[in-house]
Amino acid sequence: MKYTRIAGTGSYLPAKVQTNADLEKIVDTTDQWIIERTGVHSRRIMEETETTTSMAKIAAERAIEASGIDKNKIGMIIVATVTPETLFPNTATKLQKLLGITATKCPAFDISAACSGFICALSVADQYIRSGAVEYALIVGVESLTKFVDWTDRSTCILFSDGAGAAVLQAADAPGVYSTHIHADGDYGELLCLSGSSYKYDEPRYIRMRGNEVFKVAVTKLGEAVDEALAHNNLDRAAIDWLVPHQANLRIIQAMAKRLKLPMERVILTLANQGNTSAASVPLALDIGVRDGRIKRGDTLLLEAFGAGFIWGSALIKY
Ligand code: ACO
Repeated sequence: MKYTRIAGTGSYLPAKVQTNADLEKIVDTTDQWIIERTGVHSRRIMEETETTTSMAKIAAERAIEASGIDKNKIGMIIVATVTPETLFPNTATKLQKLLGITATKCPAFDISAACSGFICALSVADQYIRSGAVEYALIVGVESLTKFVDWTDRSTCILFSDGAGAAVLQAADAPGVYSTHIHADGDYGELLCLSGSSYKYDEPRYIRMRGNEVFKVAVTKLGEAVDEALAHNNLDRAAIDWLVPHQANLRIIQAMAKRLKLPMERVILTLANQGNTSAASVPLALDIGVRDGRIKRGDTLLLEAFGAGFIWGSALIKY
């Protein structure tokens, strides 16, 4: 049996920065409230000329370059996004074309799992690689969330941001990915959703969230996911070198670090200057930790995410 290793990572953030001071001018809020309740100082906003696919392309190219692998060896492309430019064709086939890897005719499909999308993409690709069906896979988490922000709703417009993160995965003789776990509970669907009728695609759509209720379930479910990942691998929490969490709220991340008895210095935090980029946040954090030299080969990483659905999960990885 084969295992999955991360061969290379890449990411992309739009250049345009939106600070809390900028938001103070458009909604009734303060820099202090936003920092205390969320941990966010500024976010990145895509330009009109940018798209979900254009951001994914840059992150993917950087991951392919970092992996040192010939792009034509890629046998599968999975894009996790809830903000595709078009409902179909999907983002993954657009990316396949833009990257120029159409010659292999490799499968290319999207996963819709909101903030847990990258963990889901990793889990699916891991199964293909473990079974021997695929040797190299490209997985991407990308979002154009600010296109769906209601700029009059102070409880949500302070949170969301745009960006992309990617990883090239490769079959290996040793882990790699020790485990992935994903859970979902559709009973919570209405607490975090995109407004609008399913049949009227041309009406304005906005992110709607009952934040306080989401917060409480997130802390409980992520706590269970962290425990599950450790128990499944028979690992003590001291074995974790880095927590690479979804970046929704600093207080949620602190609660997970506390559960792992991990000092915050061992957590890859991007929230302060990136906000919540949904499916892009975990691969963005992973790439930043790798590129700035904190995450080293052989380190044990715990990736976790929670989001709309609700869908939540973890991945335990030897980098
Ligand atoms: N500025 C000032 N006051 C505000 C703001 C703001 N930007 N937003 C809300 N408030 C007010 C509310 O109106 C409320 O006032 P009231 O007491 O007079 O009614 C008060 O602050 C408290 O509101 P809460 O919603 O209870 O605030 P909370 O401390 O829960 O923070 C937040 C809100 C930041 C949204 C938090 O609940 C949160 O982070 N939730 C989890 C988000 C999450 O994990 N999402 C999942 C991933 S996202 C995805 O899947 C796309």
